[in-house]
This record gives sequence, structure tokens and C-alpha cells, in this order.
Amino acid sequence: MSNKSLVSITDYSKEKILQILDKAAEFEKNPNQPILQGKVVATLFFEPSTRTRLSFETAVNRLGGRVIGFSDASTTSGTKGETLKDTIIMVSNYADLIVMRNPIEGAARYAAEVAKVPIVNAGDGANQHPTQTMLDLYSIKKTQGKLEDLKICMVGDLKYGRTIHSLIMAMSHFNPTFSFIAPEELKLPDEYKMFCKENNIAFTEHDELTEEAISDADILYMTRVQKERFTDLYEYEKVKDVYTLRNKLLENTKPNMRILHPLPRVNEIDYDVDNNEKAYYFEQARNGVFARQAIICDLLGL
Ligand code: CP
Repeated sequence: MSNKSLVSITDYSKEKILQILDKAAEFEKNPNQPILQGKVVATLFFEPSTRTRLSFETAVNRLGGRVIGFSDASTTSGTKGETLKDTIIMVSNYADLIVMRNPIEGAARYAAEVAKVPIVNAGDGANQHPTQTMLDLYSIKKTQGKLEDLKICMVGDLKYGRTIHSLIMAMSHFNPTFSFIAPEELKLPDEYKMFCKENNIAFTEHDELTEEAISDADILYMTRVQKERFTDLYEYEKVKDVYTLRNKLLENTKPNMRILHPLPRVNEIDYDVDNNEKAYYFEQARNGVFARQAIICDLLGL
């Protein structure tokens, strides 16, 4: 495997995370620089995306690089039976870096083993989404002025939400206290609870989204119920509307509290909340360009 790939957020040390965040802040001040001139980045999206793909492509375009790729795998020779291995080897011949989203957990790890160029995991099934985590950390630091000693409340689909899984691991460097709010069917998998215990991270679990449950949060991280991960749509129907965040619920939250959401939102945040000064999810998505510029330049050694 190329040691310069970003497959899991655990590929980054605390020092590397802080270094990338500093770099992202520089890119936010000056996002248009000819650093990637002569470089080609491939974006291979085997699953739908709006933010991740477009912010990666914006990041490359603003740095003077070129983008190739696909957003719909049905237009590729995969439909003729070409394997992921052959696809990745082929694209390694064309591009300096490959950004890939794939529905199969572990697909990014496998791609990194066969690729001749760095791979960036843009989401592999319900497993990991490390570049989302970097923009989440950037957003947390920007809104709270620090990453250490924060109370983070995670709400919704904690079972299939890959952004949740990556963020828990990244925050382990910064002494967080977590509050996990999910219905029984979508509770955080045991492996992540074990991870918290092994890293002495305090956490509580709740099944109701109440005023009391979020009253001391610094960050309220909402998530969508991941319909695409359910094998039985009847099970999805049972939990799809389990929580909706409304302004009323936010009245007694801390002044510094900010609402994050990796997006897309379905109906877990009421549209009225968008005008609340604590809503930060659209700015969070904007931060993705700068975080991804920093990640790309680091992986290419630029
Ligand atoms: N946050 C995120 O991964 O969004 P997209 O699915 O639109 O890329």
C-alpha cells in the first residue's frame, strides 16, 4: 500500500491532523493558487455524492490542477465485468491521485494496496469518511476556538453513519465527552464503544432527543438515517423520522453551541433551524474545499 494514502482517519497522527488544519486555514485565506499545475486528480464515485465530489473538484480546480473521473459507475467498464483492481490500476496510469467513494467497506484499503498513486477514501460503505472528518474538525476548531475538552452530542444513525465513526476516532486525541443519541436499531456499534473505553473517553447513551440531553453540548452533530445501508426498507420506514431538530429544542442550549451535519439532510433538521445563529452545516460544507485542498497537497508532497 502507498504509505501516502488516506484510507482511515487513524492514518493521521494528532500532529498531522493539526498540521492539515493549519494548512486548511491558509487555503481559506487564499484558495486560488497554482500549486497543482500539471497534476491530474481522478474522482471515482461508485456511490452518489454532491458535497464530497464537488468540493474535491473545486479544491483541485482552484489550485490549477485537472480533474478526470466519473460520478455514475454505470457508465464505466465495471458494467462489462471489469474489477475494482483493474480499474484502479488503469486510473493509476492516468492520474497523480485517486479520490474514491465505494459502497463496500474496505474498498479504499484494497484500492490503496493495488494503486500506484495515493488513494483518498471519500467514504467506504458504513465504515469511514476521513476527509469529512477533517472538515468537521476544521469546523469545530473554527467555531469553538479549540478542539480539546469539548462536549459533543451525536444524534441519529450512529450505526451506519461513517462520519460518526471517523469523527469519534479523530476526537480521541482531544479529550472529548460524547453523548450518543440514537434509537435502539441505530445505536453506535460496540467496536466504537470499545474504542472509547480503551481511550478513556467518557460517553453516555440516550434514545430520546430532548432539551436536557443537548443542554450542555458544545457541538450538536446531527446525522441522516442512511437509507442506502438498509437491506430491509420496512426497517428503514420504522426509524426514518425518529428525530427532528426544531428551534424550540435549541432555546436552552449553550451560546457557543453549533449544529453540524455532514449533509445531505432529509428531515432531521427543520428548515426553520437554518436561520438559527447556531446552525453551521452549510458553512461546514464550504470548509470542505479548504480541508481537501490541504489533504491533496499533503498527499502529493506539495
Ligand atoms: N457529506 C457528504 O459525504 O456528502 P455527499 O454524500 O453529498 O458527498
